[in-house]
Amino acid sequence: MSLRDRLTAQIASGGPISVAQYMTACLHDPDFGYYATRPAIGEAGDFITAPMISQMFGEMIGVWAASAWELMGRPDELRLVEMGPGDGTLMSDVLKTVRHAEGFLEAADVWLVETSPPLRALQAERLGEVVSWAASLAEVPDGAPTILIANELLDCLPVRQFVRTSIGWAEQVVGLDAEGELTFGLANTPAAGLLPDAQPGQVFEQSAAQAALGAELGARLAADGGAALLIDYGRSGPDFGDTLQALRRHEKVDPLYNPGEADLTVHADFPAVMAAARAEGCGTAILTQTQFLARMGIGERAEALVRSAPARSAVIGRQLTRLIAADEMGELFKVCAIHSDDWTPPAFEEEPAFEREADEA
Ligand SMILES: C[S@@+](CC[C@H](N)C(=O)[O-])C[C@H]1O[C@@H](n2cnc3c(N)ncnc32)[C@H](O)[C@@H]1O
Repeated sequence: MSLRDRLTAQIASGGPISVAQYMTACLHDPDFGYYATRPAIGEAGDFITAPMISQMFGEMIGVWAASAWELMGRPDELRLVEMGPGDGTLMSDVLKTVRHAEGFLEAADVWLVETSPPLRALQAERLGEVVSWAASLAEVPDGAPTILIANELLDCLPVRQFVRTSIGWAEQVVGLDAEGELTFGLANTPAAGLLPDAQPGQVFEQSAAQAALGAELGARLAADGGAALLIDYGRSGPDFGDTLQALRRHEKVDPLYNPGEADLTVHADFPAVMAAARAEGCGTAILTQTQFLARMGIGERAEALVRSAPARSAVIGRQLTRLIAADEMGELFKVCAIHSDDWTPPAFEEEPAFEREADEA
């Protein structure tokens, strides 16, 4: 029995499933799900992420967390939370950096929110006993100011997809073709909310899970104070498009190819996440990854690393380019802050040009 067999039997008896149901099964099925069964992350796995490209990425997040804690008035009790911590590299670099802020580590109670047992094992190997684990944010004790980080988490939260046809909206679903193979099709299921005006052929994605995370973060931060930093590739304003993508061994593959064997992602819907957080009483802001890393001082950090290891100059230059060049990760990746409404976190004091333009449009 494979996940393909199980899904095929489920669809044959119960009818087509939504793209969100398909993503959830492929990523999290306890027996066959991608994250449930393997730590396929890193050069030897299916994809690599910014913290694995260079220590500078995690260091800039660490500088941000330490500066945020200072701006919050150095609370002596703090939840430092990472959601979706992968192989633990990001938190490891953050912890190495924040120890330079005297008092931070004594105040911080460090939590990792992780659903994948194999990745939890990797995180434990890298980070040891200094952290605690939770399966959801709700399991992390509340009642203290929180600094939360999540890199490439929103992109694995499921979306439903709607396609505008010549006669109205239809939902894109996963069904079976005449040979009994998985295939995409259209169904007449209603969307959870209003869908925008669109041209025939346009696809609109709706993620209840991404919006729910925005609301959950908003409620917690409004009550306890603090800020969350969500980093992902995605849109900063309303947009159309089918962004479902499958990656296996660093190559794009058909999302219906061997369910559970490839990483499935979508673009983060930052406008929906931010609106949900604002509805709970929080402030929000968004920058490109380039703007955020530059404001946190990545250029100066790269120069310092080169000064201390001149032989690595070319490598460090290439790493910096991958993180901040507009045609690499710099523009596609966004850094979104959700914060209690009584302050503005570091790097977000200045409004970025693209947000002003969106407001004026
Ligand atoms: C693409 S990896 C990103 C890893 C890491 N943040 C990095 O930047 O290298 C996604 C991570 O989110 C975790 N994850 C996926 N769905 C989750 C959920 N619903 N709640 C918490 N973690 C989740 C995965 O197990 C994995 O650790």
